[in-house]
Order: sequence, then C-alpha cells, then structure tokens
Amino acid sequence: MNNNKKIIIIVLVFVVLTALLFLRNKTTDPIINSTASSTASTTVSVNEVKSYTLDEVAKHNQPTDCWLVINSKVINPTQFIAEGKHPNDSILKGCGKDATLMFENIPKHQGPRPQEALKQYEIGVLK
Ligand code: HEM
Repeated sequence: MNNNKKIIIIVLVFVVLTALLFLRNKTTDPIINSTASSTASTTVSVNEVKSYTLDEVAKHNQPTDCWLVINSKVINPTQFIAEGKHPNDSILKGCGKDATLMFENIPKHQGPRPQEALKQYEIGVLK
C-alpha cells in the first residue's frame, strides 16, 4: 500500500468517527434537555411560596409553637426559641402576631445574625 492510500484511509476513518460522535450527541441531546426541564419543574414546585392569613398565624401563639409576621413574611422561630438562640424571652411577645414593629424597634436586629435567622425560619408570606 503506497503512502497516498494510507492517508486516504486515515482521513476516511477520521471522518467516519467524527460523524459517529456528532450523531451520538444529537441523539443524547433530547435526553439531556428533558432531564433539564424536569429538574426545572421540580425546582418550581419546591420554591412554591405558601401564604397564611393573620388568623392562621394567631393560632401559633405559644413558646413551643410560635409563628410571627415580620414585614409580611411568616416566620416560625419555634426551633430557634427551643434551642435558646434568642438572647432573651422578649421574642415570645410576638408569637401569633404581626411583630414587625417590635422587631424593627431593636437596633441589633439590623445585624447579620437576626437577618439570616429570619430567612432561615421563614415559612411563607402573609395573605
Ligand atoms: C417580638 C419579636 C422580637 C423581640 C421583641 C426581640 C427582641 C430582641 C432584643 C431586645 C434583642 C437584643 C438583646 C441584647 O441586647 O442582648 C434581640 C436580639 C436578637 N434577636 Fe430578637 N426579638 C424579636 C424577634 C426576633 C426574631 C423573629 C428573630 C429571628 C428569627 C430574632 C433574632 C435575634 C438575634 C439573632 C439577636 C441577637 C443579635 C445580636 O446580638 O447581634 N429576634 N432581640
């Protein structure tokens, strides 16, 4: 076999392999896409925001079952309270209520820890 024939065979093998790779990607694409879209729809349902009326919040007015509203967000700090993470008992005054003013009247609440805790214990928004 002369050199020219060898080169032609190598080029042909290369072209066939490239074509196969291309076709393989084409057929797997829809699978990748469908996985991506099903993941997206799962994310949507996970992120669904719950909403509660003030009457529903008012039922949770105990230290061991405490919901409160701050800036239209419903917060359930029951576990936070049980773990002794609030520096005092004054948080209990807000259980079952819209505690926005009580919360905002405390300058320390503007710090990163209270703001992070609000996000962590948020369970929904006020209807
Ligand atoms: C009726 C509602 C609330 C009242 C009256 C209240 C009251 C207070 C007071 C007086 C302090 C200052 C304590 C000190 O100087 O040592 C404080 C600190 C703090 N509160 Fe509240 N609180 C309320 C709700 C909340 C909520 C809902 C959260 C979070 C879920 C929270 C998280 C914190 C944190 C993390 C601190 C410590 C801040 C720091 O020392 O940097 N509080 N709170």
